[in-house]
Order: sequence, then C-alpha cells, then structure tokens
Amino acid sequence: MFIPKTIAVASCFAAVLLSGCGSNVVSFKKNVEPVLAHNCAMCHSPGGIGYAMTGFSVQDYATLMKGSKFGPLVDPGSSKQSNLIWLLRHGAHHIMNMPKECEHLAADGKCTVASEYPRRLPASQVNMIAKWIDQGARDN
Ligand code: HEC
Repeated sequence: MFIPKTIAVASCFAAVLLSGCGSNVVSFKKNVEPVLAHNCAMCHSPGGIGYAMTGFSVQDYATLMKGSKFGPLVDPGSSKQSNLIWLLRHGAHHIMNMPKECEHLAADGKCTVASEYPRRLPASQVNMIAKWIDQGARDN
C-alpha cells in the first residue's frame, strides 16, 4: 500500500504524543504471545479452568480476539476500552482480576483449580500488551 510521506509523518507525530512513535512496534508473536502462553494458557486453553468457565482461550491470535462467551476482551486501538487490560491492571473486584494463582496443576500441565486471588503481571508486561492493543492489536 502506498502511503504519502506527509500523512505517514503526520500520523507518526500523533502517535508520538500518544505512545511514543518509532519507539518500536510490539509484535504479537514475539512479545505478546509468549507472555500469554507463560501466564495464562495453563487455565485459558482447553482442559484449563479459565477456559471451562468462560470459553476464553489464549491458544492463538484468533481465539484471543474472539474473547469469551461473554464477548470480546480486546478492542483494537483502545487498551482503555479493553477488558483484558482492565483485569490485568486489577481494575475490577479481586475475584475477576488476572492472572489468578493456580491451586491444582494436572499432570498435563493444565490448571484445574484456580485461587480466588490474582497475582500481578509485571507492569512492563501489561504496558507492552496495552501498547500492542493501542497499535491496532494486529497479528504481527
Ligand atoms: C489459575 C488459572 C488462571 C490463570 C493463570 C489465568 N486465568 Fe483468567 N480466568 C480464570 C478463571 C477461573 C476465570 C473465570 C471466572 C473468574 O473467576 O473470574 C478467568 C477469567 C478471565 C477473564 C474474563 C473472561 C470473561 O469474559 O468473563 C479474562 C479476560 C481472563 N481470565 C484473562 C486472563 C489472562 C490474560 C491471563 C494471563 C495473564 C489469565 N486470565 C490467567 C483462571 C485463570
């Protein structure tokens, strides 16, 4: 796609004000997916308690974007309106905030009992996922 340079520069300038343009594009595959695989997949994939209760799976880009049986959790372009970020920032009641601690890990590595209490992902990781959403939540 051809993007006139002036428009590209202008939108980059707008992006600087919002999030820091040029300060790197967050990659789903390289940056976001490994964090979800490490911290969420034990519960949020088939066999896990989070998936069983909500239908939300972080197995791949498609399931992440589909959300849960209650609806989408990622609003591309707006981390502020994405419930995923809201819960990772512990903006809700503790029984809803994420990620939860696992209380029983089955032999296949899936968590079948979750604690009532959440832990916190490092702020740098939450901010990275938020930035990816603000950049359009692309399958990049
Ligand atoms: C130890 C298990 C466990 C882990 C780890 C876990 N979750 Fe959950 N998650 C749950 C359970 C159980 C629920 C369902 C209901 C509840 O208790 O809120 C849930 C619900 C959710 C929901 C709400 C879905 C909806 O629409 O109601 C989101 C979003 C979510 N988790 C995201 C994540 C993310 C992102 C991670 C990783 C950073 C994560 N969870 C890690 C167990 C887990």
